Amino acid sequence: MAIEQVDLNKWMSNKTGIVHPIAAQLKGKDFISLHDFSTDELKYILNFAHDLKLKQKEGQPHHILKGKTLGMIFQKSSTRTRVSFEVGMYHLGGTALFLSSNDLQIGRGEPIKDTARVLSRYVDGIMIRTYSHDDVLELAKYSDVPVINALTDLLHPCQILADLMTIEEHHGKLKGEKLTYIGDGNNIAHSLMFGGAKMGMHVVIAAPEGYQPNPEVVKLAKEDAKLSGGSITVTEDIKEASKNTNVLYTDVWASMGQEEEANERIKHLKSYQINSELLKLAHDNCIVMHCLPAHRGEEITEEVLEGPQSVVFDEAENRLHAQKAIMALTM
Ligand code: CP
Ligand code: NVA
Repeated sequence: MAIEQVDLNKWMSNKTGIVHPIAAQLKGKDFISLHDFSTDELKYILNFAHDLKLKQKEGQPHHILKGKTLGMIFQKSSTRTRVSFEVGMYHLGGTALFLSSNDLQIGRGEPIKDTARVLSRYVDGIMIRTYSHDDVLELAKYSDVPVINALTDLLHPCQILADLMTIEEHHGKLKGEKLTYIGDGNNIAHSLMFGGAKMGMHVVIAAPEGYQPNPEVVKLAKEDAKLSGGSITVTEDIKEASKNTNVLYTDVWASMGQEEEANERIKHLKSYQINSELLKLAHDNCIVMHCLPAHRGEEITEEVLEGPQSVVFDEAENRLHAQKAIMALTM
């Protein structure tokens, strides 16, 4: 089905809030993995995000979630995710509650399944950032309201939705784009494979042995890529991976929860760095991406991060617009 441009005005004037069959499909749906969404659903969410961005820039109110509340559970630190969800909810006319796991009874052992059922009685959506992906699945299983995954050890779908939006802004398309991820085969790499595969992109992950992505994620993403005309490649060859690429992407070598392994990881990953030499191999139009926070001098040089091809702050901004679209469509 072709996706027509989302007409936000029409959406907002419709009492039921449902103007498109895809919007109906998305209402009440959890946002846990990009793999769970069809290509058309992702296109629809992305179009919606672009429209919301325009509305905000033009100063047009868009109180789609007036009177609604989002509970935000954080078991890990955050700058971008916390602020963008909180501000996003405000823009949409709703309220966000910051719930640190240290303060919740979860921190004292209350089961996730009880927390899910209690919170569902108060709030209209739950966002969670945590370690175990299974905890998010458990939360979603017992929750009566949509659950949004705001990062687990396995996936970071909100980030990659914002990144897809950023690539569209800079290159005007996703299908056929080559995206090369350099470094640790982590949650960002996994969600890039899932998102890229759905959108018909050619995603290449360059990582050394022992740091390559989860084989189950690779297998599922390859199946999706086959359907969309994209491809997924995992290699140790950073130079081959970067040749003629349209997007170079990297992330920290030690993710949250891996701080104790940092020195060991630096040893193994030190040649997997985005620097000006590597950038020379890429296509002239190549943009450089990083989800942030960045460790300058490790996975990326200061020169490239601050250079003209870097779009890292566009990505950070687009977290706001992409997540507003997720909330407005699912909650
Ligand atoms: N990229 C990202 O998720 O940033 P935060 O950890 O600051 O939320
Ligand atoms: N891979 C990083 C992403 C941070 C946004 C982490 O999990 O810490």
